[in-house]
Amino acid sequence: MSLALDAAAQDLLFREAHTARAFTDEPVTDEQVRAIYDLIKLAPTAHNSSPLRVTLLRSAGAKERLLPLLTEKNRAQTAAAPLTAILSVDLWFHERLPKLFPVAPALKDVAYADAGERERAGVLSAGLQIGYFLLGVRAAGLAAGPMSGFDAPGVDKEFFGDGRQKALVVMNIGRPAATAYNPRLPRLDFEEAVTVL
Ligand SMILES: Cc1cc2nc3c(=O)[nH]c(=O)nc-3n(C[C@H](O)[C@H](O)[C@H](O)COP(=O)(O)O)c2cc1C
Repeated sequence: MSLALDAAAQDLLFREAHTARAFTDEPVTDEQVRAIYDLIKLAPTAHNSSPLRVTLLRSAGAKERLLPLLTEKNRAQTAAAPLTAILSVDLWFHERLPKLFPVAPALKDVAYADAGERERAGVLSAGLQIGYFLLGVRAAGLAAGPMSGFDAPGVDKEFFGDGRQKALVVMNIGRPAATAYNPRLPRLDFEEAVTVL
């Protein structure tokens, strides 16, 4: 009653959606990924900085470069996924601010001149974009398997040799197989997570 989103969409995006760890062979098309990106690019980010970058691993060769850098338990699910994305933060995102935040072009050289501050701000906004990306995958009727179990410096070196990008999450994407989902784990109740002052 309190939600504007219809019940079927609530189920698709939240109630029936799970982290997937097994997928069918059905490919994920470029059109599907573009449709997902065209939705999720509208996520809010600090100064509209949009620091998320998405690297799609489609070829067997690209997948082979990633697999040894994953923790053991993440390898089989990734090898079998029709599509795997490395979701990273562009640590030089401020270079795009004249396009993305034209109302204050000087921000590029003022607010984000310090590399440490830039990384902190970039990771926060890219993390939020990753949450949107996951919901976008679900909105396309697909399932996502987000993973942080990987050798992050190793992935950065293998895929982003110039040091400009840092991998935050590796995400498998596809149609869930019958064995894809684990039972839902408990969540914190409202009273445990929310403080009303
Ligand atoms: C940032 C992040 C990192 C995760 N890392 C892994 C991982 O390395 N391997 C894995 O199998 N699942 C991983 N998960 C999946 C979580 O364990 C899962 O989302 C959580 O248990 C909730 O499961 P549910 O979506 O089925 O309710 C990760 C999820 C997130 C959001």
